[in-house]
Amino acid sequence: MHHFHYVGPNLHCESVDLAEIARLYGTPTYVYSAETMADNYRRLAEGLSGLDLQICYAMKANSNIALLRHFSNLGAGFDLVGGGEIKRVLAAGANVKSSVFAGIGKTEAEIQLALENGIFSFHVESEPELARINHVAGKLGVKAPIAIRVNPDVDAHTHAKITTGKSDNKFGIPLKHAAAAYEAASKYPNLTIKGVQMHIGSQLTSVAPFIEAVRKITPFVGELKALYGITYFSIGGGMGIVYKDALASGAKVWWDAQPADQRPLTPETYAAALVPLLQPLGLKIVLEHGRFMVGNSGVLLAKVEHLKRGAGKNFLIVDAAMNDLVRPAMYESYHEIVPLHRDSGRRALVADVVGPICESGDCFAKDRQLQEVGEGEYIAFMSAGAYGYTMASRYNTRAMAAEVLVKGGTFELINARETFEQQIAGEKIPAFLK
Ligand SMILES: Cc1ncc(COP(=O)(O)O)c(C=O)c1O
Repeated sequence: MHHFHYVGPNLHCESVDLAEIARLYGTPTYVYSAETMADNYRRLAEGLSGLDLQICYAMKANSNIALLRHFSNLGAGFDLVGGGEIKRVLAAGANVKSSVFAGIGKTEAEIQLALENGIFSFHVESEPELARINHVAGKLGVKAPIAIRVNPDVDAHTHAKITTGKSDNKFGIPLKHAAAAYEAASKYPNLTIKGVQMHIGSQLTSVAPFIEAVRKITPFVGELKALYGITYFSIGGGMGIVYKDALASGAKVWWDAQPADQRPLTPETYAAALVPLLQPLGLKIVLEHGRFMVGNSGVLLAKVEHLKRGAGKNFLIVDAAMNDLVRPAMYESYHEIVPLHRDSGRRALVADVVGPICESGDCFAKDRQLQEVGEGEYIAFMSAGAYGYTMASRYNTRAMAAEVLVKGGTFELINARETFEQQIAGEKIPAFLK
């Protein structure tokens, strides 16, 4: 479910005409719907309300501090990775105390920052990491709360680059070695064993791998509860979203409008399958969804530069590029592309939609059927709220895009477009070249 829809011919986010935002702030610009995020959060929380639940929004999906504040206001903590993300949570005026710290290479400085700010728990990915956290906690004279990330060796049936729960992935400790890792953890004087964690991958479109992984780990979770009195089980994130035909039906609540047998994974199917497996454990259940919370809550606005008619191929050249939204180039991902002004009188156009960067990978869509759009007109890349801005770069000295948050009929710039001066502020010409 999301709040992007046409009002007459014009695409709106909630009650705001997106063309107004494009004209005011220029393009490329990310626009997010606060109401969509709130709906997603509530839908997940309500679906799993039979559990003692803690939602830790995976902020790597989108870490703008305005969004962090929004999720914090709704009651979320965060699944964070690294010192930068801890500082973002603090900058948002949000709570590190209900957040979990993931990642396979936490530095001593990052561990210290997390401990000083009362992190809820570290999600530990290896035995050397246990020693490092114990060492830093000892230096500070505190006990560090930990859970071990267990790798259940389950295929998430998603893109290879975002599969994380197979034995050949770099994440977690294999289930068969996990008991020994917990025993090692129990011997460190400055660690407190608090829980257990798993995360099998991102953009899962079926509940089956979640069920398989939870079923595989559950007996071990029971043992940990008996042995160490663990209080929580984090089942990670990974719930997928719909990227195709996000607006095709024109229906406002398009997700629910899908026929039941073609409906993708929803919070309701997820909850119906997992609550009965998790409830008997009698533990707090932590969820770390990122993409589900923000993916369909955001679009990337771009302007058409040229329509280049090639030999047997058309290229729609827009002012957004792979540096702004890398998912198509990196994962061959599909994003629906729609005009901000829909006109049924226009001819259809089949074109590759490309950016201005100097490589052929800078392509958002191949042979896409679109309404013909001319120079200066605007388009939107749908479902761009997750892993869009956070994975952007400055390739070709392109500025980081602007970001805008909409709520009802109002909107505000939540991140100004980067200036050239900001981009080169840390660079200098060394004396030996002068
Ligand atoms: C440990 C962990 N938790 C949660 C997530 C969030 O995944 P998603 O955005 O698919 O929900 C990730 C993503 O990579 C992750 O590595």
